[in-house]
Amino acid sequence: MTSKRVYIETFGCQMNELDSELVSGQLRALGYRFTPDPASAEVVLYNTCSVRELAEQKVWSRLGEMTLRKKKDPSLVVGVLGCLAERDGEALIRRMPVVDVLVGPAELDKLPSLLDNAVRTNKSLAANPAIDANTPGENRVVSARQIALQGSSSRRSGTLAAAEDSLEMLDLSRSVSPIDSGASNSRSAYVRITRGCNKFCTYCVVPFTRGAEIHRPPEHILDECKRLADAGVIEITLLGQTVNHYRFEHGAAVTVNGMVQPQKGRSFTGGHRRDPFAGDSTTTFADLLAEIHEKIPAIKRLRFVTSYPRDFGDDVLEVMRDHPRICRYLHAPAQSGSDRILKLMNRGYTVSEYLEFVDRARSFLHEPEKGRPLGLSGDFIVGFPTETQDDFFATMRLLERARYKNSFIFKYSPRPGTVAIDKLTDDVAESEKRRRNSELLALQNRVGEEVARESVGQVLEVFVEGPSQREEKRRRRAEMPRNLVSLTVGGRGNEDSSLCDSSNGITPGGPGEDEHKRDEAAAKVAAQYGGRTDTDLIVLFDLPAQSGDPSGHFLNVRIDSVRGLSLFGTVV
Ligand code: SAH
Ligand code: SF4
Ligand code: F3S
Repeated sequence: MTSKRVYIETFGCQMNELDSELVSGQLRALGYRFTPDPASAEVVLYNTCSVRELAEQKVWSRLGEMTLRKKKDPSLVVGVLGCLAERDGEALIRRMPVVDVLVGPAELDKLPSLLDNAVRTNKSLAANPAIDANTPGENRVVSARQIALQGSSSRRSGTLAAAEDSLEMLDLSRSVSPIDSGASNSRSAYVRITRGCNKFCTYCVVPFTRGAEIHRPPEHILDECKRLADAGVIEITLLGQTVNHYRFEHGAAVTVNGMVQPQKGRSFTGGHRRDPFAGDSTTTFADLLAEIHEKIPAIKRLRFVTSYPRDFGDDVLEVMRDHPRICRYLHAPAQSGSDRILKLMNRGYTVSEYLEFVDRARSFLHEPEKGRPLGLSGDFIVGFPTETQDDFFATMRLLERARYKNSFIFKYSPRPGTVAIDKLTDDVAESEKRRRNSELLALQNRVGEEVARESVGQVLEVFVEGPSQREEKRRRRAEMPRNLVSLTVGGRGNEDSSLCDSSNGITPGGPGEDEHKRDEAAAKVAAQYGGRTDTDLIVLFDLPAQSGDPSGHFLNVRIDSVRGLSLFGTVV
């Protein structure tokens, strides 16, 4: 048993957030303790992302800081987990010798033993620095490190089953403890249903970092959802890179260590619109959603990301329509509105096929008159190689036509190892990418505001996440000695918070003595909270100061107004 203090920082997508949660649980079970303060940690772990260069740069700068720190404290253990570890491999250690542990996303089950080795090695190195000084050559440096990467092995069918078994253990090991606080983040959980990706979009590293598409057995998924619900979780988001490809073939039962196991899933091989071929032995994505909904009523909201816009059957839309606790929310990235660019991206659909899917989804799920609209969000890449102004206009037209409530917009970033970097020149100037990015974002903000306005006057069920950013700022100020307020609080707050609401302050103007007084007056009247609708719209509302904290619960809120992408309402 060790009692080392660990700091873990997570970059990238929800898949990484879940992975960090799972490895933290495993390490906690082994006696590691966690700290939110990297400076006091004895083990520092970065769970990394490689999807764009910017995501990697953040990690490089953190590793630079750790290099300085390790000079003073040689027993410090630094680990790089996740997609950058897998993409860069041992070269990462050559560039940053401060790294002791390198673990790809498909090997995270090995982290505890590798970390244990690193902790012991560094302890003896710190006690006996001469050993390190005598280690010659950079390859020796690498070989002293603790490394687990899948390399290309997960795409070789012979090793697929073995990779599946050991990785499945990571999800199965999830430690779920009863939730004793109302904190919304403990009432909301991610559950993985599919690993990896087989799409190979030409710009994307994910198929290389996460490996082949593998579907988890439905029994395991149901069991995990049930355990989470029993512990108090009421909102579950199912995760997969192409989540609607979920499909599990149950074969003849096989026995492993005396226990009957379901046979492993096959990769998705084609569309399953209504899927007449899925017999009794197949669990489709639609079946899985219906089963979770039916068997676990304690889950009040069930959603899933990310949907691949092709291969999305009516069977799934019907299940979404007919099961009230499945959120009418789809995150279905289009990436581009130009058929030529979509082809170069290897996305496998045309703009008209994409729009056919969006229209079909709306025809099943958009029922605003019943208070159940469909929330659609998207992703776009601007400045993909050879993208002309006309291609970009086509993207703008698609964004307007599809009417997303929000979109994530990225500038193309050439990634090592992908087809696009090898075959296509990154020929759109950075300044042009930036311009297209902000133009598309401005259009999205306009469309998003229009979509949000459609909810004015409606009563929507809101899952309360917590005090709004404005409220938290006010509370922080209220806790401070008055003479410190104008010195310490100032500038802009945590602007990237999803519940950010800088424009709706009860206390307009700059912070200071006056604002502090107004804060005190306002606090007696109301506290502002924020949450989300089932279509993932952000709602802010005031509650009388004496009411209890509603975080982690549902409230019905009548929508009064819209500012930016946020809705403002009154609890009814
Ligand atoms: N599986 C999801 C997306 C995963 S990556 C899907 O297919 O939709 C998340 C988003 O990052 C992508 O939707 C894409 O818009 C963006 N992205 C991926 N690679 C990128 C790159 N090389 N440059 C810029 N954006 C990229
Ligand atoms: Fe990347 Fe395409 Fe797979 Fe999404 S579907 S993870 S963009 S390769
Ligand atoms: Fe990033 Fe890997 Fe997710 S590259 S987006 S952390 S799958």
